[in-house]
Amino acid sequence: MKKTVVLFLLILFTGFEVFSQSNLLQNLPNRKITSLNGKWRSIVDPYETGYYNYRYEPHDSQPGYEKNPGAIFTDYHPVNQSELVEYNFDESPWLLVPRSWNIQDDKLFWYEGTVWYRKLFEFTAADPTNRIFLYFGAVNYQAEVYLNGHKLGIHVGGFTPFNFEITKWLRPGSNSLVVKADNRRKREAIPTVNTDWFNYGGITREVWLVEESQTFIQDYVIQLKKDNPKKVGGFIQLDGSQLNQTVTVEIPELKLKETVQANSSGWAEVDFSLPDYTPWSTENPKLYTVSLSIRNQKLTDQIGFRTISTQGADLLLNGKSIFLRGISVHEENSLRGDRAWSVEDARLILGRAKELNCNFVRLAHYPHNENIIREAEKMGILVWSEVPVYWTILWDNPETVQNAENQLTEMITRDRNRANVIIWSVANETPVSEARTKFLHRLVEKARKLDGTRLISAALEKHSTKEDPMTLVIEDPFADFVDVVSVNEYIGWYDGLPEKANRVKWNVNPDKPLIISEFGGDAQFGLHGSKEARWTEEYQEELYIRNLAMLEKIPSLRGLSPWILSDFRSPRRLLPGIQDGWNRKGLFSESGEKKKAFFVLKAYYDKKENFPR
Ligand code: GCU
Repeated sequence: MKKTVVLFLLILFTGFEVFSQSNLLQNLPNRKITSLNGKWRSIVDPYETGYYNYRYEPHDSQPGYEKNPGAIFTDYHPVNQSELVEYNFDESPWLLVPRSWNIQDDKLFWYEGTVWYRKLFEFTAADPTNRIFLYFGAVNYQAEVYLNGHKLGIHVGGFTPFNFEITKWLRPGSNSLVVKADNRRKREAIPTVNTDWFNYGGITREVWLVEESQTFIQDYVIQLKKDNPKKVGGFIQLDGSQLNQTVTVEIPELKLKETVQANSSGWAEVDFSLPDYTPWSTENPKLYTVSLSIRNQKLTDQIGFRTISTQGADLLLNGKSIFLRGISVHEENSLRGDRAWSVEDARLILGRAKELNCNFVRLAHYPHNENIIREAEKMGILVWSEVPVYWTILWDNPETVQNAENQLTEMITRDRNRANVIIWSVANETPVSEARTKFLHRLVEKARKLDGTRLISAALEKHSTKEDPMTLVIEDPFADFVDVVSVNEYIGWYDGLPEKANRVKWNVNPDKPLIISEFGGDAQFGLHGSKEARWTEEYQEELYIRNLAMLEKIPSLRGLSPWILSDFRSPRRLLPGIQDGWNRKGLFSESGEKKKAFFVLKAYYDKKENFPR
């Protein structure tokens, strides 16, 4: 009987906790924010002593756990000498936030488990009637968040933002914010246990306090309607008690002022004509200051107006056929060998892509931080953004599909006002099965509901035909559900030698745009030899020459995002003296040196600038 009660409480508390997040705030950079970045105290807790009792029951699922605060590491200090409390944040090591823990302490490089973080902060609202939120850019992988001993809730997913309202839990003077971050890989998670990237753990993105008025603008979409360059569509969502408000939308540079009326749920439809404007494009990434005003709030954003669509095999940006001169990118500052998170990190990565003459980046294999999206938008670089539905996901597990949907929702909610984001991808190299295609189809439906204006894709499966092993086809059933067919191919690396590319033909659907979302091979920077010698720069260079010549023959080819911009950490890459824990398919070494293949791709993109000629 007792076990059932505990189990019930566990589900009750866990279920309740997971959904106790507030609706996601978007456009953080333009809100009234206070940073909690910097030094946090930390406790490494591999056995989760601070969370489970010796019967392995979560302390905070026990009724009245607040009366036993010493159990959970919520920064409780003993009130008398006899009390047993076996931790003390004030005497514990510092960790920097945002950063992964892996690169801050050699003992934590390979650590996968729980680290407790504690931040003491004081906060006085500008107006005592205002509402205060706590916002995390991301915590990898699962976060349990406590403020002054009260559990705010749980977030699952290592690459998307989440927030909690903390108005009633803040106190005058010092506040104690505690985060249990757990980066253990799990079979049922998104991504699952097997990935070709490093499992950086911790509070890897920025942490903000956000101050809002009693009723405020929580979410909105202000975008050109799909295929209608003269009309702006979307919505505005208020949060608070005074929801039936008039919202004023202004674009001063266009002398535009529109008002919309929010209904009793605080929702207002946006639908108005746009006077003559300069469209956002890769050559001229024009952004307009758009302001949304209600009784006591004015929220601005920098928004670009453009259309993205397909017509047969063509990809049309503002009605003109484009070729995506892209490159795949992991969210890693290779010079630091850690997760990228800052504007400076974004500029380093995007600067390298610009050197390649790219107009497009595929942000693999998970949503990247908001800084790189907004910096790319200012630089005129188009973005493919994806959720980490990667390789062998547990397709039949309801918790797994819900997790994927949550991460997709958080990704789209954060970035659906960014003109440069043109493709949402729902999967990478997932083995074909009925359960997998059903799972992915559910994600596509969710994506289209959240944002009907952008294109949907995924790195699909290909295979050679029975009749001719040198003919490649894409017969993945999921190809019917995407707007852009994409596939990864590794001819010359995992599939034969570079010369094989001379003999391969592609037989693909001529009526949909094709993006080759990955091709490439490893090279250690500075290792030179014959072009037949694997791991040399010459081999990688030859591989690029042969693959580009092969792909150029495909009439429906409209984009490339070769794998990958820079060498990146991966626990799967173990060849001593060559890989040493790094995937070496980068066109830049981890120190930022250009390999010979860089110049092959750049020359190809220089020629492609005049596409469609
Ligand atoms: C796969 C996968 C990448 C991986 C790459 C490689 O296509 O999508 O995540 O890093 O191949 O093997 O280097």
